[in-house]
This record gives sequence, structure tokens and C-alpha cells, in this order.
Amino acid sequence: MKQASRNFFLFLSKNKTLNKSAKRWGLSLGASKVVAGADLKEAMESVRKLNQEGLMCTLDHLGEFVTEKQEAKDAADYSLKTLEAIVNYEVDCNLSLKLTKLGLDIDRKLCIQNMEKILEKAAAYDIFVRIDMEDYAHYEQTLDILKQLRKKYSNVGTVIQAYLYRASQDVEALKGVPLRLVKGAYKESPAVAMQEKAAIDENFFNIIQIHLLNGSYTAIATHDHVIIEKVKAFVTQHNIPRDLFEFQMLYGFRTEMQLQIVKEGYLFRTYVPFGKDWYGYFMRRLAERPQNVAFAFKGLFSK
Ligand code: FDA
Repeated sequence: MKQASRNFFLFLSKNKTLNKSAKRWGLSLGASKVVAGADLKEAMESVRKLNQEGLMCTLDHLGEFVTEKQEAKDAADYSLKTLEAIVNYEVDCNLSLKLTKLGLDIDRKLCIQNMEKILEKAAAYDIFVRIDMEDYAHYEQTLDILKQLRKKYSNVGTVIQAYLYRASQDVEALKGVPLRLVKGAYKESPAVAMQEKAAIDENFFNIIQIHLLNGSYTAIATHDHVIIEKVKAFVTQHNIPRDLFEFQMLYGFRTEMQLQIVKEGYLFRTYVPFGKDWYGYFMRRLAERPQNVAFAFKGLFSK
């Protein structure tokens, strides 16, 4: 049943017609609980509030299915505007973005040019930029582009998904690169990705240990308290300094726990999505945790 609902929401997440309609609906269906605002101003206010509570942030301007060069250029310009807002609002925040939104499916060269523009400005402002990892169809290209960009920019990193069989190999190969480690959010074939939760959890903890023991900056992005407790014990046991890693969770999820982790003296960053193109993001969150459906539909009637 759980697998069926996961597949259902992942299927919906790719529906372009619903995606289009959702942009017109505005932030409804409970999405406003997990999306921090429809525009940059609202997002910056949310970031400011989170900062005041001790949470660092990373902003993600939501967007999927970019098919025109102009859309990709507009997305890059919006990232530049976001960087300026981070500086103007004086908030503790970096940037997360997706290569498909910057034109990866249209023209790889354009996508790299867009990334270079963003990284140039981000470097001038001393802001880190994280390339989110998308589905496996984009995995190799994302790693290739990251490696190319890292030759010129040190303020860029990416994400490795623990459900991939190759995850530990890739983490080893990316020694020294700041990585966000996650379980993985997309529906992938058994040929490339583990399907069982226990195996994914085990590999997740495995790659976290590899990157930390390699002395590389590690963002542990999970709402899983079991993993978080294991990481806390591991870093204590191995004397891993607290400035070598941070925990991350999504905006609107386990808010109490986010604050508790900060209170315990760990670095913590909230991933703050915003914008009108919230549909695909929201559906993937529903796929991960069907319990979110309850509050999603409550949101529909309490707008
Ligand atoms: P999982 O969903 O496996 O939950 C484990 C357990 O934790 C549950 O059984 C439950 O007990 C508890 N739990 C989880 N959520 C809870 C809640 N809301 N309330 C109470 N208990 C809860 N993926 C990707 O493919 N590419 C990417 O770039 C990113 N980026 C990213 C950034 C950040 C900051 C986060 C937190 C996540 C991502 N992800 C991602 C998503 C990630 O791959 C994964 O799909 C989700 O985080 C869900 O897995 P979890 O590790 O959170 O635990």
C-alpha cells in the first residue's frame, strides 16, 4: 500500500498539465506549509525568521520542466536576484538549484554558462551553491558538470543519493567536495537503485561515515531521527569536529526537532523552497510520507 501511494504521487509529480494548473492555483492544497512563499520577498522573510531561531538556510526557487532557452536564462537571472537578496537582507543562507531548470535538457553548454554566471556572483558574495541531485537520467551529467565547475569554483557542491548502488564509490571519488547526503527521492529502476528501506538506510549511514572520515564537509539531510542519533554517536566516537558537518531538513518538516538539534549545538540548515512552481516538489514530499496527505487536504479546506 505504502509503495502504491509512493508510486502514485511520483507519477503525479511528473504530470505537466497539473503542474501548469498548480501555478495558477497559487499556494494551495497545504503546500504553503512546506513552501516558504510565492515570491522572493516572502521567502526572505521566512529565512530571516529561521535565522533568528539559529537555523541557517538554503533557498530553492522551485521550477520543473524547463523546455525553452529563455526560461533557463530567466531562471539563472532569478538566481542572481536571489543572491543579491541574500546579501541585502543580511541573512545566513546559501542557494540550492537544479540543472534541468538552468537548461540541462535543452543545451548543456547553456546550462554550464548559466551555472558559471551564478557561481561567479556567488563567489564574489562568498555564498555556497548546491546542485540538487535529480533523477538517475541526469546523474552522470550532473556529476560531470560539477567536476568541470569545481576546476574553477570552490563554492559549489552537489548531492549523493544513498539508494544508488554506486553511491559509496561516488562519495569516495568526491573526497574534499562538500556533499549533501540523502536517501534519494525519485523512483528509480532496481537496476541502479536499492528498493528496500533497510538497505537504503544502511547505505545512507555508510556513505555518511565515508565522507566524514575522509575529512570532507558533509551535510546530512534527513528527517530520520534514528540516523541522526547514529551520526551524533559516530562523530563523538571519532572526534569529528562540529564544523565539519551540518544536519539539514526541509522547511515545514519536524520543526521542533530542527530547533532541538540547534539547541544541542550542532550546525543546522533548513532547505527553504519557494515560488509559484511548487507542484512537483510538493508531490514528491507526499510520495515520501503519505501522512502529509492529511495535512495537505486539510489545507485545501482552510485556505
Ligand atoms: P524517511 O522518509 O526514510 O523517514 C524515516 C523515518 O523518519 C520515518 O519512518 C519516520 O519515523 C521519521 N520521519 C520522517 N519524516 C517525518 C516527519 N515529517 N515527521 C515525523 N517523523 C518523520 N533527494 C534527492 O533525490 N535529491 C536531492 O537533492 C535532495 N535534497 C534534499 C535536501 C534536504 C534538506 C532533505 C531533507 C532531503 C532532500 N532530498 C533529496 C530528499 C531525500 O532524498 C529523501 O527523499 C527525504 O528526505 C525522505 O527521507 P528521510 O531521510 O527524511 O527519511
